[in-house]
Amino acid sequence: MKVKFSLLVFLMFSIFLKAQSGTPTDFLSKEFHKERRELFRAKMPKNSVAAFFANPVRNRANDVDYVYHQDPNFYYLTGYREPNAVLLIYSDMQTDEKGNTYNEILYVQEKDKRREQWDGVRLGIEGAKTKLGFKTAMNGEDFLNAEIDLKAFDKVFIDGKFKDDYRDTRERIDMLDLVKSFKKKAEYNPELLLPPVVNTFYNYIRETPVEQRSRIVAIIKQYQYRIPALRKDPNIQKYLKASSDELAKDAQKSVILALQAGSNIDISFIPDQMATLREVKTEEELNLLIKAVRISAIGQIEVMKAMKPNMSETEVQGIHEFVYKKYGAEYEGYPSIVGAGNNGCILHYIENNKTKLGNELVLMDLGAEYRGYTADVTRTIPANGKFTPEQKAIYDLVYEAQEAGIAKYVIGESMQAPVQIARKIINEGLAKLGIIDSPDAKHDYFPHGTSHHIGLDVHDPGNYQKFQKNMVVTMEPGIYIPEGSPCDKKWWGIGVRIEDDILVTDGKPINLSGEAPRTTEAIEKMMAKRSILEEFVLPDLDKK
Ligand code: GLY
Ligand code: MN
Ligand code: MN
Repeated sequence: MKVKFSLLVFLMFSIFLKAQSGTPTDFLSKEFHKERRELFRAKMPKNSVAAFFANPVRNRANDVDYVYHQDPNFYYLTGYREPNAVLLIYSDMQTDEKGNTYNEILYVQEKDKRREQWDGVRLGIEGAKTKLGFKTAMNGEDFLNAEIDLKAFDKVFIDGKFKDDYRDTRERIDMLDLVKSFKKKAEYNPELLLPPVVNTFYNYIRETPVEQRSRIVAIIKQYQYRIPALRKDPNIQKYLKASSDELAKDAQKSVILALQAGSNIDISFIPDQMATLREVKTEEELNLLIKAVRISAIGQIEVMKAMKPNMSETEVQGIHEFVYKKYGAEYEGYPSIVGAGNNGCILHYIENNKTKLGNELVLMDLGAEYRGYTADVTRTIPANGKFTPEQKAIYDLVYEAQEAGIAKYVIGESMQAPVQIARKIINEGLAKLGIIDSPDAKHDYFPHGTSHHIGLDVHDPGNYQKFQKNMVVTMEPGIYIPEGSPCDKKWWGIGVRIEDDILVTDGKPINLSGEAPRTTEAIEKMMAKRSILEEFVLPDLDKK
């Protein structure tokens, strides 16, 4: 009885504490981040160290900054959502002068009462230990003062080349100081670094026995037309042209020498390994990602009910984003796209400033960000609730291409398969409608791919080889016929994209955003429903 009573008191107290703190508690767990660091470390070669840097704070204007967004790799490995921080992961256990051992250190921004009064509470060293589970955490200042001999490591990994958009801020120690200090310690010289893509292919060449080089050669040949750095690199070209195993071995030797030359800094290992880790989602990630996608789909549903021809693109955007906030999603994963008519033909149209939708098709590409994970969902609907025959013809074609693409989201299938089938269907369909002369005629009506990973980034990193279980990838064919296109005028101003977020499973693919209607019939039916927003009438500011 007594035990039960104390349990009840404990439960009530914890609920009280939760209500007191009142902030979301469903972020990724510290165990998740720790496990991810361990998986990353397991890939590191002996005697190496990896340095990850938090994103800098970016300035909007004058003394106003943009809302802070953590670097996704940094967040994935730490859970830390503040700037002015560095993470070091070592391949092997290190010992400091006091005999303490560590194989990772998180350097955080220092607790500071005055700054916290203005900008919010900081985790500090204690928070990094208790909330994020780091055994060793220190302040940024300790990083500046640390005498780390980075030249003593065979490899020092950084996450791509520094973009150098760091600036001096009012912080005593900011990203500018931390990066400067790292560059000095590592004798960083960008001139000595290979371009990341060359570095990646050098690593493949080094690791692949020359007798098995045909696969690597095929991949290089496939990529080099789009990537000048591959075409220009003499060692890669030597490898491509090698007509015997002997010549290929010679080219491989040059590659190994080039990898060892100059600097011990490697800028491609981290992006490559992080892509492999991040492209397959854990159950914990899926819980958050599925929420982000569902919230975005529900936003689309509410807009379908509420849309009227006299609404503006901005207002439509606001309804989506209101739904996101109502569910407690903190941000949008990327700038929202709401384009009516011809605006829908601009792929990344984010002005959203047309004041009346009229009777146009409205393309809406938006995604909620929930606890860091972002959805990417597009619906295209007629502002007046009814598709015209031309709009329907284009829409149905995109829908058919999307359906055929989604069927390819199965384990082991090539990730190029969805776009290939979608292109085939769209080309044939456009020819049938007389918009192009023949299925193999060149045109600009479908100028993008269909399939990218989503996760902490809307375009999440991945290797784009074969579909694997628990990948979440978009399927987003589109047809865009801007005014002035070389076809019958009746098609002008029609832009359609349908984008869904697909989970690859052991069985059939699951469309995570499928609750937002997709067929023309289902959309029209949803748009005929009443919206609660009809009662939400605000004063007219122009009325005297
Ligand atoms: N919203 C950007 C994209 O669809 O990729
Ligand atoms: Mn997308
Ligand atoms: Mn999108």
